[in-house]
Amino acid sequence: MKKGYFITGTDTGVGKTLVAGGLAALYKKSGLNVGVMKPIATGCGRINNHLVSDDAVFLKSLAEADDDYELINPVSLEQPLAPSVAARLSNTRIDMDKIHAAFEMLNERHDFLIVEGIGGLLVPLDEYYFVVDMASEMELPLIVVSRPSMGTINHTLLTVSYAREHGLDVRGIIINDSAGTCDNMVMNTNIDEIKRLTELPVVGVIPYDKRLDMKNCQKEILMKIFNDKIDKGIII
Ligand SMILES: Nc1ncnc2c1ncn2[C@@H]1O[C@H](COP(=O)(O)OP(=O)(O)OP(=O)(O)O)[C@@H](O)[C@H]1O
Ligand SMILES: [Mg+2]
Repeated sequence: MKKGYFITGTDTGVGKTLVAGGLAALYKKSGLNVGVMKPIATGCGRINNHLVSDDAVFLKSLAEADDDYELINPVSLEQPLAPSVAARLSNTRIDMDKIHAAFEMLNERHDFLIVEGIGGLLVPLDEYYFVVDMASEMELPLIVVSRPSMGTINHTLLTVSYAREHGLDVRGIIINDSAGTCDNMVMNTNIDEIKRLTELPVVGVIPYDKRLDMKNCQKEILMKIFNDKIDKGIII
């Protein structure tokens, strides 16, 4: 196993980037030489005619990584669609060789890598090639980011059992309240059921906090919240 984590989620928008960035900042602070990667991003904007992913920029900044942008985000697509579709509409295919080369280079340069997936495990990257396949090839253990709200038991169990079926080593779950609409009773009972049924640790419960909004996120506040809410004994 290589050193690091592949951060996946039960869905898009659950908080993978926030969690990946928060963990990278904590590892960096603990003195580890940490690198970050967002292998594939869709919905990228254009800066000086280059496609740029907000997720990759956020991760690079939180990890204070000095790697070239193209190593951190080797595949950037413009359309805000599933990667296989966004690639097809750009008359291209996702270049997995480029992704693997960037991954190996980052592995050489860093002691620990945090890789953010895209969407969930069954997001298609090519005709019959999915995020789960890319995660398997990277041989990194998995952290699953989940919502606390109704429906999360089903989504989390599906994600964990699919990952396990594919031989992935799921290390833990982080519950992130990205919407701030979940009441405590729902959240606490959902977390208990997820722990019982997956037999995995919930290594962090991140509350909703408007200061965590990535558009104007203050790094010190994010690090304080993550420092308080992540079980460092297990994953840091
Ligand atoms: N705990 C939180 N409190 C407040 N806002 C949050 C929290 N978690 C996430 N958000 C906000 O919710 C949005 C989605 O989070 P994020 O981008 O991390 O999700 P994602 O799973 O990485 O999404 P994608 O699938 O698009 O990569 C972001 O704008 C982020 O700032
Ligand atoms: Mg993201």
